[in-house]
Parts: sequence; C-alpha cells; structure tokens
Amino acid sequence: MVIKKICCIGAGYVGGPTCSVMALKCPDIEITVVDLSKERISQWNSNDKLPIYEPGLMEIVQKCRGRNLFFSNDIVSAIKKADLIFISVNTPTKTFGLGKGRAADLKYVEGAARMIAENAEGSKIVVEKSTVPVKAAESIMSILKANNKPNSSYRILSNPEFLAEGTAVEDLINADRVLIGGEESAEGQDAIRELSWVYEHWIPSSKIVTMNTWSSELSKLAANAFLAQRISSINALSAVCESTGADVSEVARAIGLDSRIGPKFLQASVGFGGSCFQKDILNLVYICECLNLPHVAAYWQQVIDMNEYQKTRFAEKVIASLFNTVTGKQIALLGFAFKKNTGDTRESPAIHVATHLLAEGAHLHIYDPKVEHSQIIDELNSSTLDPDKIKRNVIIHTDAYSAIKNTHALVICTEWDEFVSLDYEKIHSDMMKPAYIFDGRKILDHDYLQKLGFQVQTIGKRLNRDLGRSWGSQNHQS
Ligand code: UDX
Ligand code: UDX
Repeated sequence: MVIKKICCIGAGYVGGPTCSVMALKCPDIEITVVDLSKERISQWNSNDKLPIYEPGLMEIVQKCRGRNLFFSNDIVSAIKKADLIFISVNTPTKTFGLGKGRAADLKYVEGAARMIAENAEGSKIVVEKSTVPVKAAESIMSILKANNKPNSSYRILSNPEFLAEGTAVEDLINADRVLIGGEESAEGQDAIRELSWVYEHWIPSSKIVTMNTWSSELSKLAANAFLAQRISSINALSAVCESTGADVSEVARAIGLDSRIGPKFLQASVGFGGSCFQKDILNLVYICECLNLPHVAAYWQQVIDMNEYQKTRFAEKVIASLFNTVTGKQIALLGFAFKKNTGDTRESPAIHVATHLLAEGAHLHIYDPKVEHSQIIDELNSSTLDPDKIKRNVIIHTDAYSAIKNTHALVICTEWDEFVSLDYEKIHSDMMKPAYIFDGRKILDHDYLQKLGFQVQTIGKRLNRDLGRSWGSQNHQS
C-alpha cells in the first residue's frame, strides 16, 4: 500500500503543527485534520489567527491549506477515505476514579478508536500520536478487533511526537529522530515501512528509529521524564547555591561542558510547566505502582515533588523579601505562558506563583504578550481561590509598562525576550520604593538593575546579602 490519504483526529498543539509540516513536505499526500470542536476547526481555517501560536506555522498553513491540507469537523468522511489515521487527541491526567491525579485518562483515545471501528472500511494503519501509557496500543487493537467489520483490517503503530511548543515547526522539520514502534509480524513491519516512507520525504532514514510498540510507548514517557529530571536536578542545586553563595549558572556551565552531560536543559527556573512533563511523569509513576515497583515510582515522583517545591520556594521568597507580607501590595507579574513563544498556559508555574500571592492578599497586575486575558482568568478561577477575590485583586494589562506602574514588586515568570529589553530606568522611577525585581527565569542583567537601585532576587544566586533569608521555609541562615 502507498499512503495517499491521511486523517488526523485531534487538531491540537500536536495534531495541527505535525500535519501542517507533513503536508508541506509531502505534496503528494492529502491530509485532513479533524476535530470535534467547531471553533478549533474554524480557527484553523482562518487567516488572521490560528488556535495556537507557533512561530512559522501560519505561513505553512497558508501555503498548504486547500491544496493538500484540510481542516474539518467531518470526522466520519475523513476516516473512511484515509489510508493512515493518526490519533492525536489529548490524554489528560484522570481527575476522578481509579488512578485519580496520576493515571492518563484514555477516554478520548478510546472514543477515537471506537469512531474508527464504526466507520473504517478496508485496510487502515492506525497510529498513536498521543502520549499514552505502555500497552495502550493493545487496548486500541482490542476495540478495533471487537468491532471489526468483515471488510476491514487494522495495523497499529506507535509514533510519539517530540516537538516542543514555541519551536514546533523547527522541531518537526529538523527532528532529532522519528520513532516508530510496531508489531514484529510481517504486517507490522510493512506498516512501519509505509509510515517511514511518509517521513522519508524530509527526514533522513538514518534518523528514523524503529522498534517494538511497547518500547516506543515507553520511550516517549522516558524522554519527558529524563528532560524534567534534569530541570528538577538543577533546580535542586539552585537552592543549595542560594544558601552557599555558589552561582547555579556557573555550576550548570561547568557540568554542561562535560560531553557526557551536555549543556541543554540545565537552565534553573521557577519550575517547569507545560502539558506534558507533569502528566507523563505522573503516568509513569502510576504504571510503576501498578507493576508493583514502588521504589521506581518514588524515584520519579521526586522529580514532580522537587518542581512543586521550587515553585513554592519562589513565591515564598517574594513574600519573605517584601517584609513577610504582600497583603494589599501591588505586584506586577510578567509572563503567564509556561515558556516563551507560546500562548499555552497548561501547568504554567505562573499559575502557582499567582495563586500563592493572591492567597496572601496581594493585588496582581498581570501581563503576557500572547496569552488571552480570558485564559488567565480561567486558569486562576480553576484554583481553589474565591472567584470574587480574583475579580477584585487581579488586573490584566495589555503592556508591561502599565502592569508595572506604581507596583511594589515585579515578578518575572516567563522568559519572553521583550522583558529583557524593557526600559528599566523608567520602570524604576515608576515603581514604589524600595522597588523589587524577582527574576524567576534568570534573564535580566542583575548588576545593572542593582545599580539602578532595584532590590533584585533571582534563582540560584544570592544578590542582596542584606535581604538575608534564603528561600524556602527550611533554611533561614543569611
Ligand atoms: C497532545 C497529545 O496528543 C497528548 O497525548 C500529549 O501528551 C500532548 O500533546 P495536545 O495536542 O496538546 O495533546 O492536546 P490539545 O491541544 O488539547 O488537542 C487535542 C484536540 O483533540 C482538541 O482540539 C480536541 O477538541 C480534540 N478532540 C479531543 C477530538 O477531536 N475528539 C475527542 O474525542 C477528544
Ligand atoms: C516537552 C518536550 O521538550 C517535548 O519533547 C515533548 O514532546 C513535549 O514536552 P514542551 O513542554 O513544549 O516540550 O516544552 P519544553 O521546552 O520541554 O519546556 C518545558 C518546561 O520546562 C517549560 O516550562 C520550560 O520553561 C522549562 N525548562 C526547560 C526549564 O525550566 N529549564 C530548562 O533548562 C528547559
């Protein structure tokens, strides 16, 4: 079989960019991205704003849309005509029932599998793109087989996505590797070859790695767990640096020069966010518990615990520095996305910091260049805080200067480039004194800011010795 038509179920952060790049690189393949949400599909079909912000994506969509790339709500027709179907729906952490707070909720994946079973005819390759627990392919296969029509047959592959938000287009075009897992049977190997052929339109075959389905599913969880573990490791050391006078950037540089360790993902921060790291590690922890491997589960759980500690430590540092109270104080919070170059706020550390400060009575002035105002309010409203308190004490601004004016402190939660080049002299004169800056991303020139008269605090480096206290409640030496 030569793949001529592809359907992707789920037009989200993964399905949308992946299929757009695939359509760009495979003009001979027709790709239809389908979704239950009418709003999402109409946004993908619009010319002014896509449902997600991703540098370079609009140009690709405009080039391919209507040619060999289509966005539609007609899931049934797209399934019927496709040779290959990607399942790219979301797999959130379960919020109730067995495995609550840890296991991945596969109801959308299961729903997609049932929809395929009801509508597909002929031979189809079904590909798990969504991140799923190990052995999920088995569940998909049993749904497909149980509902098998006489004239239909399926082969299942695992093809996890490794793109990072903000660099999705670049990550897809120049992927480090493409992973394809399949069955060892002849049919399984054929299916692997067919999907490899699609990627070979632009990825060198040496970078297409094939393996068995379970290895592929576990590799995706493992890759995210390793990346998150590096951040938690450097963040753990940042606490040691603040207590000792070491500088975490110098430590990161020193260890990163060891080619066995490497320099990437060693940026200490207010904590990691995003839709994947926490969810996938919790999923891994749950799998380990189910496999009766409590030591392994506890090991990975610590990566999450350290991240929670870091976010809380940062928020408590702000409070401790502002004379142990933020009640009634005006605080500007710059950046709400979980990282720069995205409008995504899922698990953003800014949410944790904002709710912590609000719970202590602070008035927040929030600005983010890409996050919708309603989305910021929705995120805060999903916390345990009283919605009236949020209404009274939060103002969302459309530029950084108006957010900062007349505030006691400025807290940076996302590393947007535009925060680096703000006019800090003007900002200092506009703020209440003493004027505080808390740089949760280590992006500013701290020496310069101190010369301007700011009280500066950052992560993993002690700047204002006179401010005394180390971060966090456990260590109070100055
Ligand atoms: C993806 C993955 O697939 C997830 O497993 C991985 O861990 C992170 O990336 P993502 O693309 O970020 O998820 O999710 P999201 O942006 O929420 O998009 C999912 C889309 O699927 C939504 O547009 C939703 O409307 C759609 N959907 C969901 C369906 O079309 N049908 C459903 O039954 C469920
Ligand atoms: C991640 C993986 O990188 C990607 O391969 C996978 O497919 C999905 O999950 P993403 O969550 O989009 O991608 O962004 P990533 O760049 O990994 O950043 C995750 C979080 O870690 C962000 O909050 C980021 O600010 C933080 N981070 C990253 C650090 O705090 N320090 C670092 O050194 C790197």
